[in-house]
Amino acid sequence: MDKVTAPRLAAFKAEGRPIVCVTAYDVPTARAAEEAGVDLVLVGDSLGNVLLGHANTLPVSLEDMVVHTRAVASVCRRPLLVTDLPFGSYQASVEESVRSAVAVAKAGAEAVKLEGDYPRQIDAIVRAGIPVVSHLGMTPQSVHRFGGFRVQGRGEQAEQVVAAACRLQDAGACALVLELVPAELAGEITDRLTIPTIGIGAGPACDGQIQVWHDVLGFTPETFRHVRRYAELGAAAVGALRAYAEDVRAKRFPTKENSF
Ligand code: KIV
Repeated sequence: MDKVTAPRLAAFKAEGRPIVCVTAYDVPTARAAEEAGVDLVLVGDSLGNVLLGHANTLPVSLEDMVVHTRAVASVCRRPLLVTDLPFGSYQASVEESVRSAVAVAKAGAEAVKLEGDYPRQIDAIVRAGIPVVSHLGMTPQSVHRFGGFRVQGRGEQAEQVVAAACRLQDAGACALVLELVPAELAGEITDRLTIPTIGIGAGPACDGQIQVWHDVLGFTPETFRHVRRYAELGAAAVGALRAYAEDVRAKRFPTKENSF
């Protein structure tokens, strides 16, 4: 299958071909995504929650994103490799946003994603040569402003989300992630835009879907309504480690075959 590039995303939409996206953070997670034929791999700042044990994504640093992007880039070939710009690395100024995007691009990102309504930043990063994916709805870096992880864009808010989506497309975004927005609103935005929408908790009308690796594979303790778990690898890992521990304690491992 051909390499997925940022300009090809609009062709996927035009062809009605759903875009399959998943997060990855290191060599094993990226290799699994690559081998499964995923179209887009996101080095998400969700690594703050699922890998680093933070309560939310706010503490994640640009250096964290650079380190994990480098690891994913070492094995990611066909999927488009997108990296999140973390909280505090793009909001304060256009110049800072370009510098942050350049840092992750040098580590191997083929596009960056940034949350919220920042058309000037998107325009400048695209001018610098780096494609940008936008992200609206429940943007986790604004969790305190929203007062928790809640569906966004209900009622009167819907028009604001549509207007922001059009603004970000005009600024040069190559795709738009919609997180926890009503399915009907996501469908309306998907119809209005020429760039693809990629949903997470945004219903079936989006042009693509994205999920967090640890959620779909059963490594996170809770299941959320927007997640479907395709495996229980967390439980499988505990079972395997218990078997290993029992074998060591019973002196069944190592055997002659494992020795030199
Ligand atoms: O950081 C992340 O994993 C994300 C996706 C859930 C869209 O932004």
